[in-house]
Amino acid sequence: MTSTGAARGRVALVTGASGGIGLATAEALARRGLRLRLVGRDSEKLARATRAISALGGDVASFRADFSSLDDVRRLADDVLARGEPLHVVIHNAGVWHPELRRSKDGFEDTIAVNLLAPFLLTHRLLPRLRETDGDRRIVHVSSRLHAQAGATTSVAGRAVHVLNVLGVRAASRGARFDFDALEGREGEPGLEAYARSKLAQILFSNELARRVPDITSNALHPGSVATEVTRDNPFLRTLQPLATWFLKTPEQGAETSVHLATSPALRGVTGRYFARCREATPAPLVHDRAVASRLWAWCEARCGL
Ligand SMILES: NC(=O)c1ccc[n+]([C@@H]2O[C@H](COP(=O)([O-])OP(=O)(O)OC[C@H]3O[C@@H](n4cnc5c(N)ncnc54)[C@H](OP(=O)(O)O)[C@@H]3O)[C@@H](O)[C@H]2O)c1
Repeated sequence: MTSTGAARGRVALVTGASGGIGLATAEALARRGLRLRLVGRDSEKLARATRAISALGGDVASFRADFSSLDDVRRLADDVLARGEPLHVVIHNAGVWHPELRRSKDGFEDTIAVNLLAPFLLTHRLLPRLRETDGDRRIVHVSSRLHAQAGATTSVAGRAVHVLNVLGVRAASRGARFDFDALEGREGEPGLEAYARSKLAQILFSNELARRVPDITSNALHPGSVATEVTRDNPFLRTLQPLATWFLKTPEQGAETSVHLATSPALRGVTGRYFARCREATPAPLVHDRAVASRLWAWCEARCGL
């Protein structure tokens, strides 16, 4: 973990900071003396989160944006840049998991829009400010261990592996596959598959960013199985959640790896890696496939009009 002195005064932008792991991350960073820029979709939740950080004595500002709209992401980036301040840390934490196919405001499959396209576009818009900022700059991507099951969630074996992983029993999946055709959204596909694909895409993006922008670090992580609102739109998982509380992590525990990646002096210059439980972990081999990452990058550029 970082010394408070090393982190003090650094500016960190956290998306999905209105609740869950994102708010716990922002609180932990504020306690270490970082200046927080919070992003959330729900105005009331965002106001509550801002008050919570303020109560810790932190320097805090907040921005409302719906990542289902790329125009909102552009506006968010303009508002952040307009503050004219340095930017040391960006934590791409916002994420959704829908039970079935939904479309974003721009017509994209919404899971990929919120979990990948929004952070991709936001990163591009904020890169000039990150580059102008002196010293140690870090981008952190909150992915999931579920990335390793992309392409395999619909089989019985795939579902069993998923349940075991949620329960904290480490179970190996048969290896991720990246289905480019499904990126546009596939009618009838379970939301779990779209979510797993988006989490795999996040790590591919993180690794490609690390290769293309070597002066700013980019790392991805799995936060653990955490009791949050992530299952809010899934009635089945929602019903199970109270029963599952005994084995789920608290949001504060779920924030630990994000905070570690954002602040640990030991990780200065470390880039293109994947972490869990504050330690480097082994992701699906596919995340190292440069051809897939490069193709995905081009796909995002085209969708984001870059
Ligand atoms: N919980 C777990 O077990 C678990 C496991 C692996 C990975 N993760 C990842 O951890 C990250 C944080 O999730 P969480 O568990 O803390 O869930 P959460 O409580 O549902 O928090 C998700 C955050 O993302 C924001 N968000 C959702 N849709 C958005 C949109 N369209 N535009 C802007 N912001 C949006 C939410 O904002 P509002 O509330 O303001 O709408 C909220 O602040 C996600 O990337 C998730 O995939 C979680």
